[in-house]
Amino acid sequence: MEKSAKVIDECLSVRGSRLFMEECDTVGLVERFGSPIFVISEDQLRRNMRRYVKAFSDRWREGEVNILPAIKANWLLALRRILTQEGAGCDVYSAGELHSALQSGVDPMLVSVNGGGKSEEHIANCIGAGVKITVDDLDELDLIEQTARKAGGKASIRLRLRPDFPNLWQPTGFANELVPIDIGFQVYKNGIPTEHVVSMGRRALASEHLDLVGVHIHLGRHHYSLAVWEELIRRYVELIAELKTLWGGWEPSEIDVGGGIPSPRDPFGKIIGSTADNLLFAGLFAGMYALKALGEQRRYRIISRLMGLILGRKGNKAKIPSIEEYADRITTTLRTGMTRRGLTTRGVRLQIEPGRSMYGNAGIHLSRVLKTKHQTRPIAWNWVLLDTTYFFMAGGVFENNLHPFIVANRADEKPCKLADIVGRSCYADRMIPEVRIPDVQPGDIFAILETGAYQEVSTSNFNAMPRPATILVTGDQAQVIKRAETQEEVFARDIVPKRLLKNTMKKTG
Ligand SMILES: Cc1ncc(COP(=O)(O)O)c(C=O)c1O
Repeated sequence: MEKSAKVIDECLSVRGSRLFMEECDTVGLVERFGSPIFVISEDQLRRNMRRYVKAFSDRWREGEVNILPAIKANWLLALRRILTQEGAGCDVYSAGELHSALQSGVDPMLVSVNGGGKSEEHIANCIGAGVKITVDDLDELDLIEQTARKAGGKASIRLRLRPDFPNLWQPTGFANELVPIDIGFQVYKNGIPTEHVVSMGRRALASEHLDLVGVHIHLGRHHYSLAVWEELIRRYVELIAELKTLWGGWEPSEIDVGGGIPSPRDPFGKIIGSTADNLLFAGLFAGMYALKALGEQRRYRIISRLMGLILGRKGNKAKIPSIEEYADRITTTLRTGMTRRGLTTRGVRLQIEPGRSMYGNAGIHLSRVLKTKHQTRPIAWNWVLLDTTYFFMAGGVFENNLHPFIVANRADEKPCKLADIVGRSCYADRMIPEVRIPDVQPGDIFAILETGAYQEVSTSNFNAMPRPATILVTGDQAQVIKRAETQEEVFARDIVPKRLLKNTMKKTG
């Protein structure tokens, strides 16, 4: 890398006025592959995986550590191959995800098949492939047992637990409302309610067709703090210890702690703001109403000055702990809790299922500016219209993400105005609401950061827009790993009955 390059993170740097991903000029990528595109750094994905392995293996020496990246976060087959080469297992939710994991050569022993509502066919495929089934539904045990019996084999299972978390009072990032994690987790559907898990475990242990090897939990990214992880593991261990007593001394040989660790720049949940923001907005709303008394013009003049407060989003500035800090807190709490409750730690396999923190920072989304628009009255406002849409980043919209961005061909320019960065669907499509930008012009290229997880997999065709391609870069090499959809493909599943093909109006009775 040139000496004058400004390093943004491990895979992004600014050289002159251009943003580079690894050794590839992102402007060059758009010129070569078109716009919009998703771009993933192979090198960053490998670095993320290696860092996870080291962080947890260095801190959990009692048994093996397996990293099972959640394939739902990005199921591009090329990416899965990269992770397989790095020795990763896989967290799978659906039959489709299982198919792509197995097709990508993952060791079946390192596959955890999660999710409720598994069909008999899916379960038979799991048993046939020799993957671990993480039991979620109450009737699933019967179905797995019957299917294993039919196949003349034994299914390797884990039970997905649902401890209570009465001490988790931090507000969950999954809700727009102010709800503590404790309550947010109660209404989350996955996992076996504790009142049923006791009898299910006893049944599993008595069955010659079921091999109960471990336990699983996934709280998710309700909050970034280490204290939340500590409490999660503490309550998890308490429940495991209680189950040991109720199940005649059984102990897990593997403990899966799920996912939910944020990626370092963590765009999640930032658009809804903090508790203080919510109170401020309530005050502003009342104020805007009260200003009606001043008449239209004066009201708009005052509101113009307050626009940054009313509609701007600065994002929560919380410092996200490192993977090593999460690994430290998780393993220390696990070890201490297990030892205190008389659970064996020696030989216990620890599994982690990162999604966002595995893929997130390895991906960016590149999009050209189509137009800029400005109004001066009644409220001064700027729009920058991109040739993409938040329907191509729907995962982030569901999660109230606020994505960092860089103008890829003006990366060295100072911001000089405020604007809404909007997408081209007919919705408001405020992809990056009210931010400071340089003097951008049509043809410029926006790089939206942190789009490696949950974005590409959640694109939709709203406004009949074909979905973008994904490009993989490594060093100075770039190639397509998912081609762009064509306009014809958007309508490929439509079937128009023959009788509707004539342009004549149907006579009604
Ligand atoms: C069972 C399970 N494991 C892992 C993950 C990955 O979570 P994250 O992307 O927050 O790390 C998920 C996500 O929903 C999940 O349901």
